[in-house]
Amino acid sequence: LSLQQTVPRAEICEVEGIPFAKSTCSTWDQVWKFKARPDDLLIATYAKAGTTWTQEIVDMIQQNGDVEKCRRATTYRRHPFLEWSIQESPAGSYSGLELAEAMPSPRTIKTHLPVQLVPPSFWEQNCKVIYVARNAKDNLVSYYHFHRMNKGMPDPGTWEEFMEKFMTGKVLWGSWYDHVKGWWKAKDKHRILYLFYEDMKENPKQEIQKILKFLEKDVNQEVLNKILHNTSFEIMKENPMTNYTKEFQGVMDHSVSPFMRKGVVGDWKNYFTVAQNKKFDEDYKKKMADTSLVFRTEL
Ligand code: A3P
Repeated sequence: LSLQQTVPRAEICEVEGIPFAKSTCSTWDQVWKFKARPDDLLIATYAKAGTTWTQEIVDMIQQNGDVEKCRRATTYRRHPFLEWSIQESPAGSYSGLELAEAMPSPRTIKTHLPVQLVPPSFWEQNCKVIYVARNAKDNLVSYYHFHRMNKGMPDPGTWEEFMEKFMTGKVLWGSWYDHVKGWWKAKDKHRILYLFYEDMKENPKQEIQKILKFLEKDVNQEVLNKILHNTSFEIMKENPMTNYTKEFQGVMDHSVSPFMRKGVVGDWKNYFTVAQNKKFDEDYKKKMADTSLVFRTEL
C-alpha cells in the first residue's frame, strides 16, 4: 500500500456552526485562549485566497529582501498556522499553537478563521491583521483542486457537488460569503489591511507597497524589486520552501494537482458551465446583497 492509500480523508466537526477539521475542534479551547502578543501580525484568509503568496511577501519584507533567510524553513514552519494541528503520523506532526508559543517575537501567524472565531486576545492586544480576499469563483475552483490533491481535506465529490457545498458553506472554515463579509465589517473597528488577490495580480508592486506602509517598513527600490521577483508565481512554484512539496508527503499529491496550480484570475471560466454560472450568480447576488464589498472575476 502506498502512503497515499493509507492516509484517510479528514473528518469534519463544527465549532459555533462552522465546519472544521477534527484536529481544530479537539484543540479549540486552547486556540480560543491563545495569548496574542502586541507585535504579532496575523495573516487571515479564506482558504485558497492567496495566503502563501501573502506570507512570502510579508516574510521577504521582514527579512529585508534576504532570500536566504526566507528559505530558512517552509512557509508552514515559518508562520504558525494557528488552528491547525496534525497528530503523529507518517506525514509528521504539527501544532500551530505549540509552534507559535515557542516562537520569539515578532511573530507572523496564519489563520483561516472567520472573524468571529479569532481568539479575543488578538483584538485585546490591538494586533495588526492582513486579510486577503479572492473572488468567489476562482476561490471555489482553487479550493476544489486543493481538496482533490490533499487527503487532509474531506473528499470534494464531483465538481458539481463541491460547488453546492461551497455555496451552502458546508466546507472547511465555512461560508466564503460570511468570511469575506465578516472581515470586511471588522476592518472598520480593528487594524486590518484588507487586500484582494485580483489587485495583487494586477499590480503586485502597488499591493506590496500597501503592505510595507501597513507594517511601517521601508525598503529601497532594489529590495522592492527583489521582493516582487521572488514572490512571483513562477519563482514560488519552483521554491521548495513555498510550494508545499517538502511537507505533507503522502497527504498532498501534486501529481493530481500541484499546490502552485495556476495562480491566475479568471480560471473559473474553464470550470463553470453556463447553467452553473447563472445559478451561482443568482445565489451570489442574494448572499452579497448586504455588503458594499465588490470583487472582480476577471482582469
Ligand atoms: P490556484 O489554485 O488558483 O492556482 P493559499 O495559499 O491561500 O492556499 O492559495 C493558493 C492559491 O494561490 C493557488 O491558486 C496558488 O496557485 C495561488 N498562488 C500561490 N502563490 C502565488 C503567487 N506568487 N502568485 C499568484 N498566485 C499564487
